[in-house]
Amino acid sequence: MTPNGSSENGGVFEALGASADALRGTMSHFPTGVTVVTSGSGADAEGMTANAVISVSLDPLLFLVSVHQDARLNTRIREQQTFVVNLLSDDQEGLSRLFSSPERSSGLPAVNSLGGGYGTVGAPLAAGAIAAIECELQDIYTAGDHDLFLGAVVEVRSGDTRKGPLVFHEGSYPTLKTSPGPEDSGAFMDSTRGFDVRTSRIRDRRR
Ligand SMILES: Cc1cc2nc3c(=O)[nH]c(=O)nc-3n(C[C@H](O)[C@H](O)[C@H](O)COP(=O)(O)O)c2cc1C
Repeated sequence: MTPNGSSENGGVFEALGASADALRGTMSHFPTGVTVVTSGSGADAEGMTANAVISVSLDPLLFLVSVHQDARLNTRIREQQTFVVNLLSDDQEGLSRLFSSPERSSGLPAVNSLGGGYGTVGAPLAAGAIAAIECELQDIYTAGDHDLFLGAVVEVRSGDTRKGPLVFHEGSYPTLKTSPGPEDSGAFMDSTRGFDVRTSRIRDRRR
């Protein structure tokens, strides 16, 4: 242990302690896709930008979203017992910004902004999204200031998969580069097995 209590790690890591700022700031370096989760229809429709979503299980099909307990969507999912996760495409930054704004509208204006009508479970779809995953609520797990809504997947809708995904990273929406990075950026040696990841990358490129 070093004098500040952290383990020796060759100077690679800096211990930041355990605070909301440390966790939020650190996770900002971890890129995610972006979704708008919706629930309810007509005047009861609600939508919220969320990236804390997980495809949990394939057998049975289960999907999870983490929603702050004070968010309007939280109440709506509890009432409706259904939700839709719209996977946004790279030209939908505006939707992400709109549905993460506390000043946004609920109800029909929200449905119109999303522009895709309703799915099987009766919640709004986002036109132009890559996909939409429709769920019936199965369980709610309280987790600190958020609730984890676990849904049974009842419909998977494919949208415009030719588009790239909307990505959130360090507080903004970068364009996903498809070109390969520098030669050694993915270099990793498995010291036990003697396997170098770079060799497989080079071989794959030669095919
Ligand atoms: C990219 C992005 C991802 C977000 N992910 C989540 C999330 O997974 N869960 C959540 O509760 N809020 C998330 N938020 C924040 C909410 O969208 C935002 O706070 C919203 O205003 C909350 O709804 P409310 O206005 O009804 O309180 C995210 C915001 C952004 C910009």
